[in-house]
Parts: sequence; structure tokens; C-alpha cells
Amino acid sequence: MSARHISRRKHMSDLRSSPLVLRPGTAAPAVPGRILILGSGYLAGHIAARLTRLGAETVLSSRRAPVLPESRGVRWKQVDVTSGPQVAALMDAVEPDAVVAVHGPSDITWCESHPEEAYATHHGGARNIAAALDGRPVLLVSTDNVFSGEDESYGESAQTFPVNAYGRAKLAAERELLDTSSALVLRVSLVYGWEDRGPRPNFLTSVVRSLMRKEQLRIPDDHWNTPVHVEDVAAWATTLMSSGRTGTLHLGGPRRIGRVDWARHIAEQLGVDPMLIVPTPRIGTAYACRPRNACLHSEVAAQLPELQHHRPADVLETTHALIS
Ligand SMILES: NC(=O)c1ccc[n+]([C@@H]2O[C@H](COP(=O)([O-])OP(=O)(O)OC[C@H]3O[C@@H](n4cnc5c(N)ncnc54)[C@H](OP(=O)(O)O)[C@@H]3O)[C@@H](O)[C@H]2O)c1
Repeated sequence: MSARHISRRKHMSDLRSSPLVLRPGTAAPAVPGRILILGSGYLAGHIAARLTRLGAETVLSSRRAPVLPESRGVRWKQVDVTSGPQVAALMDAVEPDAVVAVHGPSDITWCESHPEEAYATHHGGARNIAAALDGRPVLLVSTDNVFSGEDESYGESAQTFPVNAYGRAKLAAERELLDTSSALVLRVSLVYGWEDRGPRPNFLTSVVRSLMRKEQLRIPDDHWNTPVHVEDVAAWATTLMSSGRTGTLHLGGPRRIGRVDWARHIAEQLGVDPMLIVPTPRIGTAYACRPRNACLHSEVAAQLPELQHHRPADVLETTHALIS
């Protein structure tokens, strides 16, 4: 049976998310402490930089050494998360107080054309991390793609129903780690920030670059997000690691916005012709496999004292601040 069939069967029988709970007996906060991060990409780099500023001893890990400037000066170890023995050896060598799982491909279009590899890395990696945890707390960054996208936005109690390979792989990874009872799954919406060094710049950065070159851009007019700034993701991740909470929590930005409106806003901020943005149905583009609405809100975050000072930023205000 293929990975796609296995995960379809699993999510159909287990549709609801685990509720957010306080893990009993958490006396010692994980931060500062020694934190092992599986992954060394965009989110890993920003989370590592914030942990380091907070005084944590941070270790990044991935197959290839990190390239982003945020990772400079952070210890790095080589690992392939699809190998159980490698993950176990890494855990033994680092002996972390807590673990952050931000491994695996985040390119949704690539995952759709490589479903077995995406599943092997996201789910297989999570299974290997779960097996090596030995009771340690773990935070997994997951995605809004675990939902169908038919509703405008999804809270924690909504039924999962992924409609693409990426969402199926991430949902299977969630289940592996939640089964350990020491996991917090933080589902985040589309992440943005100014990032001109990485191998795959995010939407904001690539739209700015193209518009500055006066290139025409075909942008889907039927795809909505609640974009969230990368620093908000890092702030929530590091704060929640000390909270002792387990279960599922959502982080979406406060504004639901279509890609065309966001791109036109960027054009206005740059003072370039907004007619360079050409609205296009997502079918037939790289966005075809994405849910119509990739949007999250939280039903519980406003009640969590540790997040009172971490309200996520509005994407239009942050865009203005980043590029003007
Ligand atoms: N960026 C977003 O908008 C967003 C939104 C929601 C959720 N997420 C989730 O957050 C996680 C990180 O996203 P990101 O944007 O930081 O992605 P990214 O920049 O592509 O980083 C992914 C990291 O995973 C590592 N990796 C891939 N395969 C691996 C393997 N077999 N063994 C060990 N490491 C492996 C990569 O390094 P190597 O290739 O060198 O191994 C890389 O360091 C992903 O799981 C994604 O699903 C991201």
C-alpha cells in the first residue's frame, strides 16, 4: 500500500486535533537549556537565533550545513531524519532538554510531485524523533495544509482533511509526535519576512525582487492566506517551549488576505505599476495543489498568559515596515 493510501486511511479515522493541555509535572522550563533543532532552514535559523539570544545552548541539524545568516555561530550536526539510527545517535550525542522539529521540504508544489519522498521525510522523520525522545518535550511546526481549505479559516477544533501530499505527510508527522504525549504541534500559516539569502525566498521577498525588475507576475486570484511574520513564529515557538503545554495550537496572522491584494500592496509600497500583477486562477499554476483557503486562527491562544505579549503582526503593516 502506498504512503498516500496509508495516510488517507489514518486521517479519515482520526479527524480531530488533539486539544491543547498543560503537561503535568513540568517544573523545569526548557529555555534556557540545551535545545536540539531538527532542520536548519528558514524557520530553524530564526528559532535558533532567538533561542541563542535567550541564553539557550542550541544545536541545528540537517543533511547539509546551514546557509542562512541567522544560523551563523550556531552549532550544527549532520543528520538524515529518515534514518532511525542517525536520529538516535544524534539525540545521545546532544542530550537535549527539548527538541524542535522543523525538518523536511516546505515546498508544497515539490511535495505534490514527490509524495513518497515528502512522506518519508516528514512522517518518517517524526517517527524516528518520537522513538528517540525518551520523554523529552518536542515542538513540531506544522501547517494549515492539514485542512481542506473549503472553509475561510480553521481553528484547533476543526476537522483535518488534507487535500495534497504535503498536508497528508504533515498530518501523519503530527500524529507520530502527539502519540508520545510530550509534543506540542504548532500549526502555522504561510510564513513571510525579508529573506534575500536563502535558496527559496518566501512570497514577499520573491514578489519584491520581481517587481523591482519590472517583471510581470501571474498571481492566483483564488488563494487566501493568514500570513505570519517569521519573528512571530520564532517568538511563539520559544515561548511555548517553556510553557509545558502539549497538544495542538494554531498561529495565523490577524489578516486573511488574497495573494493578489498582497502583491498589489507590495507594488504600491515600492511605487511600481500594480498592473504588473496579473490575476490568474491557481489551476494551471504552481499553486494548483494548494487549498483555496490556507488560513488559521486560534480558539485558545488569547487565553494563554504566556502569549499575551506576543500578538502576531498584521501582514500589511509589516510589509510596509519591511520594504519602505
Ligand atoms: N515556511 C513556511 O511558510 C511554513 C509554514 C508552515 C509550516 N512549515 C513547516 O516548517 C518546517 C520548516 O520550514 P522551512 O520554511 O524552514 O523549510 P526549509 O527552509 O526548506 O527547511 C527545511 C529543513 O529541513 C531539512 N531537511 C530536509 N530533509 C531532511 C532530512 N532528510 N534530514 C534532515 N533534515 C532534512 C533541510 O536541510 P537539508 O535539505 O540540508 O537536509 C532544511 O534545513 C517544514 O517542516 C514545514 O513543513 C513551514
